[in-house]
Amino acid sequence: MTVRVGVIGVGMIGQDHIRRLTRVLSGACVVAVIDADLERARTVAEDLPGVRVHETGQALIADDEVDAVVVTSWGPTHEEYVLAGIGAGKQVFCEKPLATTREACERIIDAEVAVGRRMVMVGFMRRYDTAYRAMKAAVTSGEIGAPLLMYAAHRNPSVPSHFTSDMIINDSVVHDIDVARWMLDDELAAVTVLKPRRNRKAAPGFADPLLVLLEMAGGVLVTVEASVNASYGYDIRGEVVGEDGTVELGESAGAIVKREGRYSGRVPADWRERFVRAFDVEFQEWLDAVAAGGTTGPSAWDGYAATVATDAGLEALRTGQRTAVSMRERPDLYKQQ
Ligand SMILES: NC(=O)c1ccc[n+]([C@@H]2O[C@H](COP(=O)([O-])OP(=O)(O)OC[C@H]3O[C@@H](n4cnc5c(N)ncnc54)[C@H](O)[C@@H]3O)[C@@H](O)[C@H]2O)c1
Repeated sequence: MTVRVGVIGVGMIGQDHIRRLTRVLSGACVVAVIDADLERARTVAEDLPGVRVHETGQALIADDEVDAVVVTSWGPTHEEYVLAGIGAGKQVFCEKPLATTREACERIIDAEVAVGRRMVMVGFMRRYDTAYRAMKAAVTSGEIGAPLLMYAAHRNPSVPSHFTSDMIINDSVVHDIDVARWMLDDELAAVTVLKPRRNRKAAPGFADPLLVLLEMAGGVLVTVEASVNASYGYDIRGEVVGEDGTVELGESAGAIVKREGRYSGRVPADWRERFVRAFDVEFQEWLDAVAAGGTTGPSAWDGYAATVATDAGLEALRTGQRTAVSMRERPDLYKQQ
């Protein structure tokens, strides 16, 4: 079966997902697009023969020829489209964040629970990265024993001038939060954010780097170093320390050259390069699940948990205080993952 996909929001990542759906993966065709910037939607559609340009997201979702919906518009607009997708009985792939407030995420959870089956996958693509999957396999196999600590680093070479310290939490650390929950199969209990000596390359008033301490409910401590002016490349690191051993995140940057007593390899330029394959795997698994009548991967619950945790992270950044993470009870729908 070919899944006929409609894409809402055809900016940077929307266009990248259209490229992957039309040129890289199998089992999908893009049949409709819409963007608040209609001109942009029309320009994107020019390269996609037969694609309809709708004027609203609601019209795209109602289109009988759209089987499933990809939401890649700005975060605050996600709730409306995800709820409409669920209401129309169409599977939805929503880029992170699921929604920008706890209440909005809860409305999505309530809608999905009312339908009685999962309709939403959230785009936490690190779960599809080969290196992270190998690390997760080592943790869940028990070969390093019970996890005690996890170290993570999330370094961007630079960021646009509009980037703020809050965005380090919302756009960068949110991925580490999802990885920690998934890797350790546990929820967060509290977040603390520390501000080390400031990088002089950071814009005035901008705290960078940040050191984020995640306390998991089961007692594992996770530190996330988040830097957005690291200069030398996009560097993602991780290590889980267990009772019997440790597992480190492998470098996925390809060949390491050893020559004249030195070795060298490539540091990815940005997140696109580092996670390009993870995005492909993520979408292929989603398409396969949709073709089979369901969905897969990070759920609306995972999206909710990430938003609640980033809210706590923002408060911790603002106050300098340890901030508890409190979540509603997990509905049964999300217990069988
Ligand atoms: N998984 C990841 O690592 C990752 C990476 C990048 C972006 N994202 C997420 O993807 C989403 C889009 O990010 P982007 O970088 O492509 O942004 P972008 O600004 O390049 O594109 C967003 C597009 O949405 C359109 N839009 C805004 N409001 C709309 C509305 N109400 N209806 C329809 N279209 C609307 C804008 O006109 C724009 O074309 C964000 O939620 C972002 O957090 C995730």
